[in-house]
Amino acid sequence: MATFSVLTVSDSCKEGTRIDTSGPAISELMAEAGYTMIDSRITEDGVEPVSICIGEMSHRGVDLLLTTGGTGFSPRDFTPEATELVCDRKVPGIPEMLRYRSSEKVKAAWLSRGTAGIKGNTLVVNLPGSVKAVTECIEFLLPILPHAIEVLRGSVDRCGG
Ligand code: MTE
Repeated sequence: MATFSVLTVSDSCKEGTRIDTSGPAISELMAEAGYTMIDSRITEDGVEPVSICIGEMSHRGVDLLLTTGGTGFSPRDFTPEATELVCDRKVPGIPEMLRYRSSEKVKAAWLSRGTAGIKGNTLVVNLPGSVKAVTECIEFLLPILPHAIEVLRGSVDRCGG
């Protein structure tokens, strides 16, 4: 059974001045798709807190870590930078695909600076911070996750395309 964790990146959710809606939406959508949740957290924005959380959460051997929020142009948006700091390898194709598919829904999709990478055997993917955006992005992600996770788990020795 493939596993996932969710990290909501939001100062206001961390302070409790705003209710986290995108994190629970991710959990619900991934559970509906048959994935098992290992962990979910909320952290404030910033390179240090986000990179610490990604490091700790991926250390538990989860297959997929989805972050939501902090990928835009706001002064406190540093989720992509934190992700790149802590990941071992980049996965440029996933954010490229997410921005392209998302741009068919909303032109501002090109403003997401989200990235993706591999930390150990965990695939880390940045999603934007709205329920609408995570719902759309998970729909785009689901078809490619099984193969990505199989290869990361070492259960596929050769990609047949
Ligand atoms: N992607 C999808 N699929 N749907 C959306 O509504 N919103 C865009 C973009 N990507 C959006 C999307 C907008 S308006 C912004 S500002 C960027 O995501 C960054 O969002 P974030 O700051 O919540 O991370």
